[in-house]
This record gives sequence, C-alpha cells and structure tokens, in this order.
Amino acid sequence: MSASAESSARPLDDRQICRCLRRWFRLRGRDLPWRRTRDPYAILVSEFMLQQTQVATVAPYYERWLARFPDFTALDGAKESDVLHAWQGLGYYARARNLHAAARFVRENFGGQLPPATASIARLPGVGRYTAGAIASFAFDLPEPIVEANIGRVIARLTNWRAPIDSSTGQAHLWQTATALLPRKGAREHNSALMDLGALVCVPRRPRCGQCPLRQFCHAVQPELLPIKRKRPRTIQLFEPHTFAQRRNRVLLEQSSDRWRGMWILPRLARSPKEEPLLKIDFPFTHHRVTLAVFASRKAKRPNDKRRWFSRQALASLPLPSPHRRALALLLSVAEPGHTLLPN
Ligand code: ADE
Repeated sequence: MSASAESSARPLDDRQICRCLRRWFRLRGRDLPWRRTRDPYAILVSEFMLQQTQVATVAPYYERWLARFPDFTALDGAKESDVLHAWQGLGYYARARNLHAAARFVRENFGGQLPPATASIARLPGVGRYTAGAIASFAFDLPEPIVEANIGRVIARLTNWRAPIDSSTGQAHLWQTATALLPRKGAREHNSALMDLGALVCVPRRPRCGQCPLRQFCHAVQPELLPIKRKRPRTIQLFEPHTFAQRRNRVLLEQSSDRWRGMWILPRLARSPKEEPLLKIDFPFTHHRVTLAVFASRKAKRPNDKRRWFSRQALASLPLPSPHRRALALLLSVAEPGHTLLPN
C-alpha cells in the first residue's frame, strides 16, 4: 500500500495493520442483526437497505422484511405494491424495485439460490461493485475488497489522500488500497472491521485518534480535514401543489408514475391556487428541497385510471411515500368523520 505524504508513521505494513484491526474488532466491533446470519438473501436485503440509510433506521425494517418475505421465493412471488409497502419510509424506492427484480433474477438464472461467485452476484439488478463485494465477503467469506463511505474515509486518512475521493483517480486509489489490505483469509471479518473502524473511531469531522488501533500506521496530517470530496451540486428548491379531496370518509389518491412510481400520493395540481395551502411539508430529494403544499379541493373530483377513492382503513396497507403519509395523517386527524375540514 502507498501513502501520499512524508510522516512519522510506520510504513504501511498490511499484515500488521490487519492484525491490529482484527484484535480491535473482536473487542469493539458492532453486533448488527445481519452479522448473525450467513444467509445470502438476508445479507442482500441488508445491503440494499443500507445503501443510503443509517444502520439504526435499517435494523427494524430488516427484521420486518425478513418476517414478511423470508427468502428469494417469497419475495419473487410478492406483489409490487406489497414490496413498496414494506419499504415505505426507507425512501429511494428504486432499491425496493431492484431487490424485487433481483429475487426474480435469482429464480430465472440461478435456480433460486445465490451462487458463491462475485461475478454472478454482480449481475443482479441494483448490485454494483461495493454490494457485490459485500455480499461475497459477508455471506461466503470470499476474498473481496469493499469500499463504502466508512472504509473510504479510513483509507483516505491512513494514506493521507488529499485529492477528492469521489473522482475516478480517488476511487481507483481507494479500491487499490482496499485490495492491498485484504488478508488472504477472513475477508468477512476484515471488511466488517474496517467498516466499524470508520463508523466508531475514524468518524467524520472529529476522529477519535486516541482510540485508534491503527494510529501507528496512519499518515494523515490533518485527519479531520479528510476525506476531500468534489463540490456538491447546489440544492434546487421545488414547490409542488397537491390537493386533498375527501368524500364520505374516503380520500382521493393518485398513483404516481414518476418519482414514486407505483405508490399512492395526494392528487397533483397542474398549478398552484391563489389561496393559502392547508399545510406544507418540506422534504429532501436527491439535490432538491421539495415543498409539498396541500390545497383544499372545492370541485367534485372524479376518479380516473390513475385516481381512486380509498377508505381511511385502506390507507394503512397502501404504499404511500413518507411526506404524503405525514400530510394525510395530519389532514385526517383534523378532518374527523362528521367534522369536515373543508368546504363541500
Ligand atoms: N453499510 C453498508 N453495509 C453495511 C453493513 N453491512 N454493516 C454496517 N453498515 C453498512
């Protein structure tokens, strides 16, 4: 492994690094639900959920998901609306669709079982280099390196990498270093340990270098300034008007065909009415800040091929994106039956 700065740290001795890391991990590593299994399906589910979501958020979803869809066959046989419903609240629903498609792919191409081969795992929809390596190492202990945010930060600091890690050169450096660091045996434990070091010790902003098992090997001069990333695109503000139409204890919803394809949302309005909205909810969406504004509906609304009336009871089992579910909960808590919020 190479480091990019002169420093008083020892040369990076991969074997020694692995030994110190392993010793630390056995004392301090996290006990996470998906580490108690070797089931490739369960590990695939956990990795899809963890792609853009924190460990603490994922844990209860992971348990519920496995109770609802315990294996590839169960998931493959599920309706898309049930899959989206189980994912509801995790966001980035393309992951749920890919997971569903992956279950089908496993049936069609691998006879229902994920093979212990990284190249095969990498053919699954939604599986990139990181996820393929994670499943290969965590489920099968195959000697595959992985680089995600935690490991990227550890490596950038260990090697004092002072260029953006999200450029192609930066990524090549991280993956090369992760490959060089990989021990011949025990990739599962090694990869988990590197990840945990990033999550618990080599944390963003204020790393706990005093507690670091690798400090004698670390070349970082100002670790708190690493890693460097390219400038983020500016956040774009969006204002999106929707309507709330209620009739005899039922609400009108529309099935989304774009951002939340397949999920149910409050019907969209082509333009914003002059009046004040009933409520506004802000939420983030990849490089956007969206204001969901809900307006009272005055005209009788008709269902069409995308719009349907749903009873309040039916809402619980419908896939609804979080901002719309929150808006509905607020609106319906005010608009108790027989106590209409809106003018008729
Ligand atoms: N982030 C991505 N994959 C993870 C895993 N398996 N454990 C903890 N955090 C993760």
